[in-house]
Parts: sequence; structure tokens; C-alpha cells
Amino acid sequence: MSSALAKIEDFPSDPVEFFKEILQAAAKGHPDGFLQEMNLATVDEEYGVLNRTVLYRGLTPDNFVFYITHRYTRNFKNLQANSKACVTFYMPDVKDTTGKDSSWQVRLIGATAVELPQTEMDALWAKESLAAQIRGHICPCGEPINYDELKARHDRFLQEHNGKSIARPASYTAWKFQPQRWDFLKVGLNEIADRVQYRLQDNGKWESMHVAT
Ligand SMILES: Cc1cc2nc3c(=O)[nH]c(=O)nc-3n(C[C@H](O)[C@H](O)[C@H](O)COP(=O)(O)O)c2cc1C
Repeated sequence: MSSALAKIEDFPSDPVEFFKEILQAAAKGHPDGFLQEMNLATVDEEYGVLNRTVLYRGLTPDNFVFYITHRYTRNFKNLQANSKACVTFYMPDVKDTTGKDSSWQVRLIGATAVELPQTEMDALWAKESLAAQIRGHICPCGEPINYDELKARHDRFLQEHNGKSIARPASYTAWKFQPQRWDFLKVGLNEIADRVQYRLQDNGKWESMHVAT
């Protein structure tokens, strides 16, 4: 049996830079392609809180985490009604410079969701996979469906659009998150985690500190 205290060393003054460093290290273990998911929690009138997994799509030009969705989803409607959100990333098996594995959890606490302008959607839509583009047209998210009917609709859509470009539906959209705090937790096997938290100050600067796990 062993026990140790994890330590987060040499973290940059900007939390987004720190996040990028960890993502880069996480991607190293997946040279054939790397997708990063994130968990998004929203305020929901019916359930109080509702969370789900979404795909992390990168950073906006002004350095905020963003994801893509459709206006007919509950996550969109939740954020439209109440822009408060929390986002969690989990990155297991991230090697540090000495080759030691750690798991990281990165949280955007007290985030405000801001919808990206529609002028930015064409470029994002063009990069979507064929499946994602078709889904945007044929799936009534959250509604009960009959598999055979949906499959027939999918196959017909695929055939009709064979080789043609697929128009971006008006429902396609994206949200960025402006957090009050960034919370980074690092832990290895048989270790007590270390956490570094960045807190946004009134002057717009980030204050960073270790906090207990
Ligand atoms: C790996 C993975 C990635 C996903 N990515 C997205 C995404 O980027 N955007 C999205 O709206 N839903 C995504 N989903 C589906 C959501 O988890 C969710 O089921 C859907 O958005 C409806 O959720 P809601 O009812 O809370 O709105 C993803 C699911 C998985 C498992």
C-alpha cells in the first residue's frame, strides 16, 4: 500500500493555456485521431438540473470553449432560458514530461453560455461529418421514434443527396462558455489529488491558487 500527494507544477497564468497543454498531452496517446467529450450541465425547469455529454469543438477566436447543437434539443432550450451552465472535462491517462500517467478533471464553474453568431455557422457546418449533417435534418431530438421509419427516412435522405452538398438547417447552432472559475484536478494511482483553481477577478485578471481536493 502506498500513498502520495499529487502536485500540479508550473502552471501558466492563463487557464486557457493550461487547458490547451493538458489537451495536447491527452491527444498524444491517440495519434490516429482524438475526440474530446465534455459534460454539460444546465438548469432545467422540469428536472432542476440536466446534464449530457457533448463534443468539445475547440476554442472560439476570443478563447472560449464551445460546442455545437441544434435549437430543437433540450440543451439549447435550457441555455436559451437560463444561460448558467457548468462544463466538466475528464481526461484519463495523460502522461506528464516524466512519462507518469495522471487523470485530469477540468471544470468551467459558474459559466455563462453565449450563442455564437449565425455568420459563423456555415464554416462549422462544412466540417461536419455526413452522419452529423443528416442527423440535423431527420432527427426529432427527444421524441419517441419508430426505428424502421427513421431508417427509411435516413436512407431516402442519403439517396436523394448522394454526392450533393447538404444545406445547413436553421436549427444548427453553437454556444461558447464564459466561466467565472477554471478548476483543474490532477490525480494518479494511490495519490491524493491536487487542484489548481483560477478565479476571475473584478479587474478581468485571473488569480490562481492550489485548493484542497
Ligand atoms: C460522445 C457523444 C458526443 C455528443 N456530442 C453532442 C454534441 O456535440 N452536441 C449535442 O447537442 N449533443 C451531443 N451528444 C448527444 C447528447 O449527449 C444528448 O443526448 C442530446 O444532445 C440530447 O440531450 P438533451 O435532451 O439534454 O438536449 C453527444 C453524445 C455523445 C455520447
